Amino acid sequence: MATMHRDDDVDVNVLQGRRIGVIGYGNQGRAQALNLRDSGFTPLVGNRDDEYKSRAVEDGFAVRPIRAVADEADVILVLIPDEVQPEVYEEQIQPGLRRGDILCFASGYNIYYKAIVPPEGVGAIMVAPRMIGRAVRHLYQQGLGFPCLVAAENDAEGKSLPVALALAKAIGATRFGAFESSFREETVIDLFAEQMLWPGIIKLCLLYFEKLVANGCDPEIVTTELHLSGEFVEIAKAMITHGFFGQLKLHSQTSQYGQLSRAGRMAPPELLAQVDRAMREVCSGEFHAEWVKEQKAGKPNMQRLWQQVLEHPLAQSEAKLESLREIIARPGAGEGR
Ligand code: NAI
Repeated sequence: MATMHRDDDVDVNVLQGRRIGVIGYGNQGRAQALNLRDSGFTPLVGNRDDEYKSRAVEDGFAVRPIRAVADEADVILVLIPDEVQPEVYEEQIQPGLRRGDILCFASGYNIYYKAIVPPEGVGAIMVAPRMIGRAVRHLYQQGLGFPCLVAAENDAEGKSLPVALALAKAIGATRFGAFESSFREETVIDLFAEQMLWPGIIKLCLLYFEKLVANGCDPEIVTTELHLSGEFVEIAKAMITHGFFGQLKLHSQTSQYGQLSRAGRMAPPELLAQVDRAMREVCSGEFHAEWVKEQKAGKPNMQRLWQQVLEHPLAQSEAKLESLREIIARPGAGEGR
């Protein structure tokens, strides 16, 4: 089993005397800065002039320019989107780095693909919550934790991993547990889900919709059945409480037999080849190169792909059910089901 650290194994005192800087005050930045402060630290917040900066000021932080925080802090949490990190790093963070500083990332992406290469003597660690920022804050406030992956690159002296673990504890992650991982592992796990698992689910859902509608079923009833009813979410939740396979027992015998007897058919050799391809593109950096090129060109393919999905009959059917969506999404709806 992977090495997992929990609160009792971790000493936050390794952060004593260290100046912690949080760059970015978005999903992760806000949650982590607030949790650090509630854990007794005084993070410096660095942000450009935008609405996120106003939010940080409202929350009581004296926000400084990113460059100033990079100068002053010696443990620097880089919590801005992965796409903008290389440029912001080059122009505003790197000039402020000194030997012994540590850069902390919440994803492995830019270090794994070498889009950011810290200078000699500057450490790179990863504290990657497996949780959206809002929940990182909410769970912390409830005294609960969340899973997290930690790593330290070029840590020959073994000084950086304890800092990563201390940060993981200070933001509340080790109440649940922090797994020792690597920049590579985090990146591959994340991108493989984004490029194989979720697209596979999207495509199967669309096929389900298209086939049923082509066979005379009402699009709005199919849309409701597909996701608006919330059954999808309930099944996912039951996987946590009853187990990935255990939740099958909550379905009828007919359903169990149908699912178990047909699952094997859903992965023909053509699909397996695409699974291999997705893994290859992630590991080799081929996807990263394609995405960098797409961004430089102004994201024309992304706009075209968005246009395509918004024109799909499922999106049109969903629009007709807007009022139903509002009822289902209302706080409290679905509880106790
Ligand atoms: P976000 O999209 O919420 O970031 C917004 C922040 O970035 C704001 O403070 C904004 O001022 C700043 N920003 C945006 N563009 C900028 C630019 N060009 N120059 C300077 N500042 C800029 O980012 P999010 O989602 O919190 O992601 C931060 C890191 O956390 C990423 O590495 C991401 O992979 C990782 N992560 C995010 C999760 C999430 O909850 N979204 C979950 C786990 C990890």
